[in-house]
Amino acid sequence: MRIQPGRFKLYGVIGYPLQHTLSPRMQQAAFEHLGLPHFYAALELTLKSFKQMMHRKKKLLLDGFNLTIPYKQAIIPYLDLVSPEARLIKAVNTVIVKRGRLLGENTDAYGFLKSIKEKFGWNSKGKSILIIGAGGAARACIYDLGKEGASIIFIMNRTLSKAKRLYDEFGKKFSKTQFSFHDLKPKEMLENHPEIILVVNTTSLGFRSDDPKLIHKFPRANGKRFAVDLIYNPPQTEFLRLAKAAGWKTANGLGMLLYQGAKA
Ligand code: ATR
Repeated sequence: MRIQPGRFKLYGVIGYPLQHTLSPRMQQAAFEHLGLPHFYAALELTLKSFKQMMHRKKKLLLDGFNLTIPYKQAIIPYLDLVSPEARLIKAVNTVIVKRGRLLGENTDAYGFLKSIKEKFGWNSKGKSILIIGAGGAARACIYDLGKEGASIIFIMNRTLSKAKRLYDEFGKKFSKTQFSFHDLKPKEMLENHPEIILVVNTTSLGFRSDDPKLIHKFPRANGKRFAVDLIYNPPQTEFLRLAKAAGWKTANGLGMLLYQGAKA
């Protein structure tokens, strides 16, 4: 490895807990590949430490950082500038530090769309899509799919009021896309709406082996429908296993992780 001359910079990912994060290994490998002398750390901070650090942001030693659960929204009040995309998604996963000022971006949305384009040759225009979940990750996906001109987005969530909130917000923003919101019944929805060509699980269900099943059976698809789970660890959740068994094309969240990190 040839190290290029230049100032050493310090970056990191902030979250809690952080045992499962792949970002430090991925970003450090990229720095080394590019011959950059920088370091990327995992900063596992409790909410109290996170707040203390952000209150003293002028003295922050970091040149930039990523945010993961549970700080993607909590960071927003501390930012000096938020990109229009991140403002609409209401989540920031990347912060650039410039002379003590913090600039917030969202690269998750880019990562999601890029990953399904790579994996499936995906184009959202005119498509019907089911999004399961109504948190920050769902917002990034809906933003992408709406921006690209999806025709219908069904939003489904355990807490219906949160799905309705997304329906209200994004419905105003993307006039070409029809939105609807629903209780958490993915099996019935996929059976009753064969036009749904893509289903995305954005919830954390399936992360732990003892999690309840999100869906018990997928309708048969013969390789013409797509199922994505944003979880990448385990690489194949029960959701993806069942989808694959029924002939759906599948992708986990590793591609999104990779491309959000590359853009960050
Ligand atoms: P993220 O930023 O990763 O999207 P989040 O904003 O905390 O995280 O959102 C988590 C999503 O997973 C929500 O849609 C949540 O549903 P609720 O709005 O009803 O809380 C969903 N979720 C988490 N645990 C769940 C469970 N056990 N069953 C169903 N949905 C669950």
